[in-house]
Amino acid sequence: MGSGLADRIAEQLALIEDRLLAEAHGDTPFVTEAAAHIIAAGGKRFRPGMVVTVAALYGTAAVESVVKAALAVELTHVASLYHDDVMDEAELRRGTVSANRRFENTVAILVGDFLFARASGCVADLGAGYVKLHAETFSRLVQGQIGEVQGAAAGVSAYDHYLRVIADKTASLISTSAVYGGMVSGAPAGDLAILAALGDEIGTVFQLSDDLLDITSTQSGKTPGTDLREGVLTLPTLLVAASADPADARLQELIGRPLSDEAEVAEALGLLREHAAMGAAREEIARRAAAAETHLDALPAGEANDALRELCRSVVSRSA
Ligand code: IPE
Ligand code: IPE
Ligand code: MG
Ligand code: MG
Repeated sequence: MGSGLADRIAEQLALIEDRLLAEAHGDTPFVTEAAAHIIAAGGKRFRPGMVVTVAALYGTAAVESVVKAALAVELTHVASLYHDDVMDEAELRRGTVSANRRFENTVAILVGDFLFARASGCVADLGAGYVKLHAETFSRLVQGQIGEVQGAAAGVSAYDHYLRVIADKTASLISTSAVYGGMVSGAPAGDLAILAALGDEIGTVFQLSDDLLDITSTQSGKTPGTDLREGVLTLPTLLVAASADPADARLQELIGRPLSDEAEVAEALGLLREHAAMGAAREEIARRAAAAETHLDALPAGEANDALRELCRSVVSRSA
């Protein structure tokens, strides 16, 4: 990335940081504190990064529109994190105590709603097309979260169910981030469709990668093994569940139920980290990311396109 573009993107992201905290302001110090808690804790800002970088592909957007679109997707994301941590009974988020632990479930849920309302305010300023896409996106995200809890319907394979859940709960918003970047730039309809597909595919890779990190990482700012505690199967555990190797019997027993005993969580994590399924999952992630990247061939070439390629690759390297 040439320094001109990198500087412009960094400037816009810095502006977005200040505005995010401003959006957390409520009518009482308590609401402000609870809403700023997870925003101020940081995070990768992947979705605002997607908006800003896609907008740079075209170079025609008004900065205020780029900022509003980026605020909308990050506020929606943070709202979903407040809710997700209640669902997952998480202790840690972004390297700090989760809102459900620092306050209580009721506060975490309502603050998530508050931030979602703030996101709605941002898209309303952008126009009806943005509001409609935002509504469709949040509807998909929430149904993905519900689907994860419900499990596969009769006749649907566990793997197909998993792919549907992660596309809905995670890729939907990443896809919308890419599309918003195009919309604020007046991108042609054909490009918006390509951006939607790119975001959907790289968003799926993003969650596949996050699911590996739940097993491997002690640096994610979250507690490893959350999926095992919740009894949620992800790509590596789905591969183990399907194995016919008798050596996998103990691990299959552990991943087949929610784990509340920390010794069992540690045992399952130890077995998984050494398992060939991790390598197979990494290969699948690399394959899907390479396929996602091919969409960029059909979008305007140049520095911003290269930066988007980098963004795609960063999703893979995070969990490699
Ligand atoms: C976490 O998202 C939840 C998922 C959808 C995987 P991020 O990995 O983008 O979390 P932050 O924003 O960097 O904290
Ligand atoms: C969360 O999925 C997806 C959304 C917030 C919509 P996870 O439960 O896997 O995400 P983390 O690991 O808690 O960030
Ligand atoms: Mg979670
Ligand atoms: Mg979850």
